[in-house]
Amino acid sequence: GERPIIVAIDGPAAAGKGTLARRVADALGLAYLDTGSLYRAVGLKVLEAGQDPDDADAAVSASKTLTVDDLARPGLRGEGVADAASRVSAIRAVREALLAFQRHFAHSPPNGLRGAVLDGRDIGTVVCPEACAKLFVTATTEERARRRHEELRARGEAPTFEAVLREMEARDARDAARAAAPLRSAEDAHVLDTSNMDVDSALRTALWVVRSRCVLDDTDPDGRDQ
Ligand code: CDP
Ligand code: CDP
Repeated sequence: GERPIIVAIDGPAAAGKGTLARRVADALGLAYLDTGSLYRAVGLKVLEAGQDPDDADAAVSASKTLTVDDLARPGLRGEGVADAASRVSAIRAVREALLAFQRHFAHSPPNGLRGAVLDGRDIGTVVCPEACAKLFVTATTEERARRRHEELRARGEAPTFEAVLREMEARDARDAARAAAPLRSAEDAHVLDTSNMDVDSALRTALWVVRSRCVLDDTDPDGRDQ
């Protein structure tokens, strides 16, 4: 296609962005990038080096030595790393160091795919304001904490629900209050509250939004070579 199909999915922690983004990408034959994993990878590197995630020099050098292998490491999903990710992501120079990779992925998706779905906090506002479809996925704080608590328990971590709730509230507040690319809905985003929605109905709504806003050639179900 002439113009790549870019779908931006933003929102607070555990709203269901990643689950939805992956399903939308699979349904439409698009590439998928979890941009949170970039910030998590930087946070993990800093923690492993015994450095402070609020230390700009440490975080910036970690972001400059990031490789694709760092994005698939098993240690990335814990809440300790999420906290470090949220701290390094408030540093403007860290965000700038990660910008080119994200934009390149969106505009030149791997494997010749015709477009990409990116999820994060600032995809619709900063990384790809030109995205043809933007979703702001949200849910009540209680529901999001319940989902994250369940996920962590399934992975063998056992924090209390209250601890997960408190940490998530602190992280969302920091993400929304920072000066550099704060968490907020783009003006042209479709707001999707999944508090009382299962994954399938969220997917139906998301696909409806993408189909009505992006130019898809649906005679090509593989999404290749259009
Ligand atoms: O990426 P984000 O942190 O926003 O959320 P996630 O990693 O996709 O996790 C969301 C969790 O909530 C998953 O365990 C989903 O199965 C569940 N969930 C969802 O994603 N969407 C719904 N509408 C309902 C539940
Ligand atoms: O899975 P969850 O939604 O809890 O977090 P994540 O998407 O993996 O992101 C971890 C942290 O990275 C967030 O709390 C944000 O501070 C930061 N982040 C960001 O600043 N910008 C993005 N595009 C993605 C993540």
